[in-house]
Amino acid sequence: MTRDFHRRQFLGVAATSAALVSGAARAEERAQEKAAATKSAAIIHQPKPLTFDPKSIGGLSEKILVSHYENNYVGAVKRLNAILEQLASLDFDKASGFQINGLKREELIARNSMILHELYFAGLGAPNKPGAALAGAIGRDFGSFDRWRAEFVGIGKALGGGSGWVLLAYDKHGERLVNSSASDHTQNIAGAAPILALDMFEHAYHLDFGAKAGDYIKTVMSTIDWSNADRLFEKYSKV
Ligand SMILES: [Fe+2]
Repeated sequence: MTRDFHRRQFLGVAATSAALVSGAARAEERAQEKAAATKSAAIIHQPKPLTFDPKSIGGLSEKILVSHYENNYVGAVKRLNAILEQLASLDFDKASGFQINGLKREELIARNSMILHELYFAGLGAPNKPGAALAGAIGRDFGSFDRWRAEFVGIGKALGGGSGWVLLAYDKHGERLVNSSASDHTQNIAGAAPILALDMFEHAYHLDFGAKAGDYIKTVMSTIDWSNADRLFEKYSKV
C-alpha cells in the first residue's frame, strides 16, 4: 500500500515536471515564433556596397569615405532595422503617443539618412556629364547648367556653417527639377524625388578639409558621376 502510494506520488511529480518542461518548451517555441514573425514583419534593409573604389576619388581620402560609409550610412541602416523591429512588435492600441511619436520620428530620420547617403555615394565616381535627357531638363528648369551649378554650390556653402543636405530633385507636383536645402535628414519637398545629393554634415568633410566647406564642395562637384542621377530622372519624370 505504502509502496503503491509512493509510486503514484513519484509518477505524479514526474508528470508535473514533464508538463512544466513541455510548457516551458512551448512558451520558448512561441517566443521564437513571435520574434521571427516580428523580424519578417519589419522589412530588414541591407546596406548597399559602395559603387566605387574609395581610393579612387580625387580629393576625398579613402579614410573619410570609408568612415562615412561605415559609421554614418551603415549605422543608419542598422538603426532603421532596429526601429522597424520595435515598430513591428508595438501594440499600437496600447502604446502611448510619445512612444509612437518617438519611434516614427526616429524611423523617418534613419530612413532618410539611409536613402540620402545612398544617393550621395552613388553620385561619386569617375566624373562625367549628365545624359541628354537630364541635361535638357536642367537647361529648361534652371536656364543653364552653369546656373544650376551656381545654385547647388551656393546652397551647399550656405549650409557650410551648420549641416544638412543639398538636393537636386524631380518635383512630381510641379513636373520640374528643383534644388532644395535640407537642414536635417527629414526635410524634403513633398512630392519631390531627390536624384543627386550633397552631404553637408561635417562628418563628410572635416577629416579632409577641416572647416573649409567650400573646398569640399568644389572637390565633390569635380567628381560627380551623373549615371545614377540620369537613371533616377528617367524613372521619376515618367511617373
Ligand atoms: Fe553623411
